Amino acid sequence: MQHLKVIAFVVACLLSARIPHAKGADINSDKQALLAFAVSLPHGRKLNWSSTTPVCTSWVGVTCTPDKSRVHTLRLPAVGLFGPIPSDTLGKLDALEVLSLRSNRITVDLPPDVGSIPSLHSLYLQHNNLSGIIPTSLSSSLTFLDLSYNTFDGEIPLKVQNLTQLTALLLQNNSLSGPIPGLQLPRLRHLNLSNNNLSGPIPPSLQKFSANSFLGNAFLCGFPLEPCPGTAPSPSPALPLSPRGVLLLILILLLLLCIFKRKKHSEPTTASSKGKAVAGGRAEKPKEDYSSGVQEAERNKLAFFESSSYNFDLEDLLRASAEVLGKGSYGTTYKAVLEDGTTVVVKRLKEVVVSKKDFEQQMEMVGRIGQHQNVVPLRAYYYSKDEKLLVFDYVPSGSLATVLHGNKAAGRDPLDWETRVKISLDVARGISHLHAEGGGKFIHGNIKASNVLLSQNLDGCVSEFGLAQLMTNAQSPARLIGYRAPEVLETKRPTQKSDVYSFGVLLLEMLTGKAPLRSPGREDSIEHLPRWVQSVVREEWTAEVFDTDLMRHPNVEDEMVQMLQVAMACVAVVPDQRPKMEDVIRRITDIRNNYSSGTRTPLEDKPETSQAP
Ligand SMILES: *[C@@H]1O[C@H](CO)[C@@H](O)[C@H](O)[C@H]1NC(C)=O
Ligand SMILES: *[C@@H]1O[C@H](CO)[C@@H](O)[C@H](O)[C@H]1NC(C)=O
Ligand SMILES: *[C@@H]1O[C@H](CO)[C@@H](O)[C@H](O)[C@H]1NC(C)=O
Ligand SMILES: *[C@@H]1O[C@H](CO)[C@@H](O)[C@H](O)[C@H]1NC(C)=O
Ligand SMILES: *[C@@H]1O[C@H](CO)[C@@H](O)[C@H](O)[C@H]1NC(C)=O
Ligand SMILES: *[C@@H]1O[C@H](CO)[C@@H](O)[C@H](O)[C@H]1NC(C)=O
Ligand SMILES: *[C@@H]1O[C@H](CO)[C@@H](O)[C@H](O)[C@H]1NC(C)=O
Repeated sequence: MQHLKVIAFVVACLLSARIPHAKGADINSDKQALLAFAVSLPHGRKLNWSSTTPVCTSWVGVTCTPDKSRVHTLRLPAVGLFGPIPSDTLGKLDALEVLSLRSNRITVDLPPDVGSIPSLHSLYLQHNNLSGIIPTSLSSSLTFLDLSYNTFDGEIPLKVQNLTQLTALLLQNNSLSGPIPGLQLPRLRHLNLSNNNLSGPIPPSLQKFSANSFLGNAFLCGFPLEPCPGTAPSPSPALPLSPRGVLLLILILLLLLCIFKRKKHSEPTTASSKGKAVAGGRAEKPKEDYSSGVQEAERNKLAFFESSSYNFDLEDLLRASAEVLGKGSYGTTYKAVLEDGTTVVVKRLKEVVVSKKDFEQQMEMVGRIGQHQNVVPLRAYYYSKDEKLLVFDYVPSGSLATVLHGNKAAGRDPLDWETRVKISLDVARGISHLHAEGGGKFIHGNIKASNVLLSQNLDGCVSEFGLAQLMTNAQSPARLIGYRAPEVLETKRPTQKSDVYSFGVLLLEMLTGKAPLRSPGREDSIEHLPRWVQSVVREEWTAEVFDTDLMRHPNVEDEMVQMLQVAMACVAVVPDQRPKMEDVIRRITDIRNNYSSGTRTPLEDKPETSQAP
């Protein structure tokens, strides 16, 4: 016993001495290794890694151990990594547990030092252009190995047998050939060897997997595929079955049936409880509302903008849990929460009429122009024949429409006047920025309260710009007046002047608390808001137009009357009589400055009555 312990100790010492960099490895050596990796491997999207910023808290794709002493996860999917992984870089991260470089264009083979990092348990390299043979020196801690959609060739190494912790082995769509080794991996749940050039019989230990795990290998045979040539189709009548044999066979079949049934029943729970590791498999199909038109072959073609620091790819997006936020004239909008908790908004466009090239050009423009604090930036897009997706930042407080009208309905505090003025100024700045772009020709074309999103501190951001140009022109029936300028109802052509008109309607909406909708019987909606306001004001009942929630505040009426004048100028019937957005900003700022010197603060203004649940 003592001897054994001593031997074990000596072996352990020898082993640890042989593992490179185990000694003295720390967060700084990890940092150097990562920098060396980033420098020697070209990448499309910028990695914001720099030697002067802290690795653990500010480097995209990097997660550290809780004590921040080592790098523990590296996820860089779809960042356009191009070329071979240099050896002696990632291989030095010897505390790494999860490595995802999927959906890049990594070539040549996998350096042996990467796959063999002793702590590595999940390796995602699918959708790259890796070639050569599957490395034989893989870490025996691996539980999840995804090398699918590459160009690996040669045989599946027998050494895979040593990966006894493996729960998923995904090798589909490579160029593997030769026989499948008789792997005995007790934990294996996900196996995919489809679309290779494997041959020979499927080993009995893997026959529990369905035919879907073996498709597209012309020379593979045996259960669950077709019987191998030369063997009889049923379980060998060559050995004539005795009555006892028949009984045994029935028992085995029953047993298999039970196992199969139990597996089926337990599937939903494993999917949720196993979390990340299982989610990488292709076995489960979460709710994918916006994914139906995405072609398998195009799954990594999500186009990101330079400014985007997101770290996910289309696969992540399709796997995300999605919730419908709204259905608009351009399509349906979803809130998507990715595996790692990142939340984005996905817009699924319908009736896009332009070609792929025009779409891409327009999106590049939208991406460029969207760099303003009062504009919701487009982060990525996807275009295929059947599906067009846009990815935006998720803005948590919802739209102005929800907050303005929904708060009241839900018994929450109504939006106070200060905030309404601030939001109108934000929106005016956002629109003015758009109007200044594209040589001063850019048009939003769809300004309305539901397209103004509010950040956590209620900053207003304009969304949905640059989309009108992609759509069929008959986007909404002319009878819907709402925010549309009178001339647009005829020409169907929005202009900067019609944007000003829509903004004017938005201002009226904030002043009156009434939505410019056709909604008979709803007191808080008036389809032709400008006309209604005009008629009331003409009768000298100006104060009657204002939102009663605002009238509870002392001393705001004068300011509101001035804002009303700005709004009325914006909704002038003759386009040329409407001010430019810059003038609007100037006027609102003036009003603000003249009145904000008072003692009023939003807190004092809160009406007592609105405390009801
Ligand atoms: C890099 O990007 C990440 C992810 O968006 C961000 O959290 C981090 O602050 C950025 N770091 C630097 C140094 O800009
Ligand atoms: C992958 O590599 C092969 C050569 O090894 C090359 O012919 C092919 O174009 C590459 N594919 C991609 C998508 O880069
Ligand atoms: C793999 O397992 C075999 C025995 O099945 C053993 O001889 C071999 O040393 C193992 N290889 C590694 C790298 O652990
Ligand atoms: C597939 O394997 C068979 C032998 O099993 C071989 O004859 C054939 O050339 C291989 N095809 C490719 C495309 O590698
Ligand atoms: C394996 O991959 C192929 C090709 O992508 C797919 O058709 C098949 O359904 C997958 N099988 C399993 C079991 O996921
Ligand atoms: C996988 O291989 C199959 C069969 O060769 C092919 O139809 C499919 O398009 C491939 N998938 C990808 C993503 O390359
Ligand atoms: C703001 O005050 C200045 C000076 O008191 C006045 O000239 C200006 O007309 C006022 N502007 C507005 C919009 O009330």
